[in-house]
Amino acid sequence: MILARIRARAYRFACLAALLTLSGIAPRVLVAASMAPSFPSNFIWGVATAAHQTEGGNTQNDWWEWEQQCHLPRCETSGIATDSYHRYDEDLALTQELGLGAFRLSVEWSRLEPTAGKYSAAEFAHYRNVLQAARARGLKIVLTLQHFTLPLWIAHHAPQGANSWLDPALPRLFERFTEKVVGELGAYVDYWITVNEPNVNILTSYAVGVTPPGVQNLKKAPIALAGFLKAHALAYHAIHRALPGAKVGFAHHMRVFDPYRSYNPLDQLAVGVLHEFWNHQFLRAIQTGRIHFQVGTVFNHREDYPLARGTLDFIGVNYYTRDLIKRDISTPQGFVIQPNKKALKSDMGWEIYPFGMYRVLMDLKPYKLPVLIAENGLADAADSMRARFICDHLREVRRAMKAGVRVLGYLHWSIIDNFEWISGRGPRFGLAEIDYTTLERRLRPSAYVYSRIAREGNLDVCAR
Ligand code: FCB
Repeated sequence: MILARIRARAYRFACLAALLTLSGIAPRVLVAASMAPSFPSNFIWGVATAAHQTEGGNTQNDWWEWEQQCHLPRCETSGIATDSYHRYDEDLALTQELGLGAFRLSVEWSRLEPTAGKYSAAEFAHYRNVLQAARARGLKIVLTLQHFTLPLWIAHHAPQGANSWLDPALPRLFERFTEKVVGELGAYVDYWITVNEPNVNILTSYAVGVTPPGVQNLKKAPIALAGFLKAHALAYHAIHRALPGAKVGFAHHMRVFDPYRSYNPLDQLAVGVLHEFWNHQFLRAIQTGRIHFQVGTVFNHREDYPLARGTLDFIGVNYYTRDLIKRDISTPQGFVIQPNKKALKSDMGWEIYPFGMYRVLMDLKPYKLPVLIAENGLADAADSMRARFICDHLREVRRAMKAGVRVLGYLHWSIIDNFEWISGRGPRFGLAEIDYTTLERRLRPSAYVYSRIAREGNLDVCAR
């Protein structure tokens, strides 16, 4: 009886298929199915930039001073960078040409508040023009309030030893600055990013000391990180006081750590400690309002800060690569990063590890917050790996979404080549290439692949 019913159904299905094929509908149905958007129609496709890397002439911040002090190889300086202070509309036009819908940029605090408490009306007018131009090109705005640079007056505010993010006054100064930005520019902003990559910032500026203020003190690094947390929390509340419906997050640099020797329990232990600190402790402090930053016996900083509790509407994630970790007790931190000899690497020497995108997104699932991929990209001057990189990473994004992570969008780093901090102009991260002599921008072939993905809302172009 059942068998007979199945046979009858199969027969009806075969007849229907034959009819559809004859009428020419079937091929169209099949094509439509393969072109079906696999990302939701409201998924945000965009690009990310930062003020100091693109604007040029940011003479009033700590990075500029650091460059003048010749800390970079060959004393390289950011100079006019990509001159985006003047050419911003070219960058916006490229973004629009690609059919993208969002632009992440940062405001440069040292331009807007060049001396303590004194704001520059002209610079606020400048950013208003930039944001209006972005809006006119149909772009949503993701605005970062602090992306690695600090005004000189803050960097010099406290005596040596308590400068910059170690300065206990900084979080409140940042809150005051945020209030002003919200009042002046808030109407244009869709997503707010308070601070960019606190973990990277404290590693390079307060532990290794290769970026300003050049502190090398493992004990102080977590205090600087606590400064970031407080600044973020105060800025979050300042934005919400003025704009209750605002969407506020911070950009969290997440990395995948794996043991260099997968069988070695000491390497595994080091990975666990590092993963916990780097990827989770800042988020957990926001979740609970209790700071507990600890890396084994290297440092241990505890402090209650209830104001931080719940200060995230979304998590911004910057994902680039993974590190292989080897336990090494001869170093102050107790481990070293080992290169993965077998891996494909970008021009920066960073391993290309798309599966890491899935892993970090899944790691965020327990926080039950929407995620915005605020940066992902690679240095690839020849543009021989970028298209595949984008496809492979987005495939992992989609997989994580299917597994229940709410991903709001993807911002590629970056729309144009730019000044890559201590690495200067060498690395080429742009969807568009820059000729640093003429400052002309030209889209690379991979940009059109990203454009197709964004326009079609799926990864079909990746299979072609
Ligand atoms: C991130 C930074 C960004 C850019 C990329 C390549 O860590 O946030 O400014 O330098 O790396």
